[in-house]
Amino acid sequence: MRYEELRERLARLKAARRAVILAHNYQAGPVQDIADFVGDSLELSRKAAAVEAETIVFCGVHFMAETAAILAPSKTVLLPDAGAGCPMADMITADELRRWKERHPGRKVVCYINTSAEVKAESDVCCTSANAVRVVESLPDEEVLFVPDKNLAAFVARNSRKKIIAWDGYCYVHHHIYPADVAAGRREHPEAEVWAHPECRPEVIDLADKALSTGQMIAEARRTARREVVVATEAGITYRLKKENPGKEFHPVKHTALCANMKKTTLPKVLAALEGGGTRITVPEDIRLRALGAIEQMIRI
Ligand code: 13P
Ligand code: SF4
Repeated sequence: MRYEELRERLARLKAARRAVILAHNYQAGPVQDIADFVGDSLELSRKAAAVEAETIVFCGVHFMAETAAILAPSKTVLLPDAGAGCPMADMITADELRRWKERHPGRKVVCYINTSAEVKAESDVCCTSANAVRVVESLPDEEVLFVPDKNLAAFVARNSRKKIIAWDGYCYVHHHIYPADVAAGRREHPEAEVWAHPECRPEVIDLADKALSTGQMIAEARRTARREVVVATEAGITYRLKKENPGKEFHPVKHTALCANMKKTTLPKVLAALEGGGTRITVPEDIRLRALGAIEQMIRI
């Protein structure tokens, strides 16, 4: 099918189903191009709740579509590829969290948004990489449990006065970015500033000029006077950074820093989802309400 034909078909199907297409910053370029909104995980879930549509085609990974379903229960949330999960979110189950809480009685649980609805339901408050420090600082407790990302937990611990007890999870994409990769990026692009995602190892963040979430990178790219930036995060984000800032250069610190699950979404699968395929993401109401409590607590902060 020709590209123009595909776009026309998508437009017809979207109108017929009163649908919108949301895409995460790490999605492949062609998927970002046909999306109605591109953003970070929380922005997209909030967009899903706010937008006037009956159907949301969520081009991202499972926990993001689930967060959209938690915030917008009356809408049909479709994931184009049922196998697009987040390996880090899968590193903790609700049962494991319940047992961990029993070993740390009285401790509050902060969960990263990269968790299942069941884990959010067992947590006190949710956070994103953009607000994790603020969320932890807002709690009156001196010591908190943090799941599942040990690197984000270390970032919070280094930027707050709290004691963080961290779950031993990590994002394989960010965890496999090493100090040597940053050093190589600086050698190749001596004029560039280096931005690292807080899911990176502390040693990598130490070598970066700024630690920024994906949403913060998009905003900083517009603001900065620097003409060249090396980003230590999933390489797909450079597509949007370059598209929105044609006068500036963005380089992934590692071209192999790719999230296989994010790349499972393709244009044919998006089309198939609108034609009646895709997987509908739903959350049982009792879990949804408890998970919503943790998300709303974050939004209040
Ligand atoms: P954001 O919350 O910044 O969109 O990132 C999600 C993610 O999966 C990072 O690896
Ligand atoms: Fe999960 Fe990492 Fe992929 Fe983000 S980049 S979806 S944290 S595996």
